[in-house]
Amino acid sequence: MENQNYPQKTREFYNHHFDSSIWNDFKFRDDDIIISTYAKSGTTWMQQIIAQLLFNGEEGLEVSEMSPWMDLRVPPKEIKLAEVELQKHRRFVKTHLPVDALVFSEKAKYIYIGRDGRDVVWSLYNHHINANEKWYDALNNSPGLIGPPIDKPTDDVAEYFRDWLDKDGFPFWSFWDNLRTWWSIKDLPNVHFVHFENLKNDMSGEIKKIAAFLEIEINESKWNKILEHCSFDYMKKHSSKSVPLGGIFWDGGSETFINKGVNGRWKEILTKEDNEKYVNMCKEKLGDACTKWLNTGEL
Ligand code: A3P
Repeated sequence: MENQNYPQKTREFYNHHFDSSIWNDFKFRDDDIIISTYAKSGTTWMQQIIAQLLFNGEEGLEVSEMSPWMDLRVPPKEIKLAEVELQKHRRFVKTHLPVDALVFSEKAKYIYIGRDGRDVVWSLYNHHINANEKWYDALNNSPGLIGPPIDKPTDDVAEYFRDWLDKDGFPFWSFWDNLRTWWSIKDLPNVHFVHFENLKNDMSGEIKKIAAFLEIEINESKWNKILEHCSFDYMKKHSSKSVPLGGIFWDGGSETFINKGVNGRWKEILTKEDNEKYVNMCKEKLGDACTKWLNTGEL
């Protein structure tokens, strides 16, 4: 362990969603679990998986309350820090920050989930286009906004994708920075990588690997329940439990958030040029090994 190069925080990251400074005051516990993604990559799914593993397939867990997004700037950090300080169960919180804006613990365990950037954008677009006035109000009018507010999206998903690619994650944040920084620490003993596609193709195999990484013994008598409760259909049906604030920020409620759970919806819409640009950018920004993993899930 002593010879590992653990990352150091080098910057704060503020925007309409982020307040990275919360991590400066976060009191880590040795058994903390941090779930990390760029966004729209299976974060909620992983929260559900971990809740199911920790609580032996229990029904009705209020997962979104139990597992807050720490670096979201609403509610403010004082409230969130006090809430997680009171938690008695093994904590599992989420982040969407790149590694260089995080305070990194050598003892906590980090699970990173990746998803093809095009699938991410299709999911992000659904998230954004269906966001209601409460969402804009919370992000743009809560005290302490640093940087520009977030606006309504275009009604053309391909245009949304092109803007996201050309403007480095606009109107959210850089996909490349997020994945590149996490990839750079993927071999640390307390970091585990999961690919969305692998989770879809072999959820039970992936959950077993996650449990082993987290040193959670699976209760075999509850295994079928655990799998059922992590399935797309179950999560869609019970989405108010896992989606932030029960889905009040989206037209259509929490079911809008757990939308389709499939990949490749962009295939019929993006042009050959769009795809070439995306593929070239992956190679340029991430390098060959990380691009291969992003495309195939093969480590
Ligand atoms: P889509 O919008 O493509 O349907 P996040 O939690 O990071 O915001 O990711 C949300 C995406 O994960 C959504 O993708 C959602 O449908 C998908 N998802 C959530 N639970 C899932 C599950 N059990 N199986 C498959 N996909 C799931």
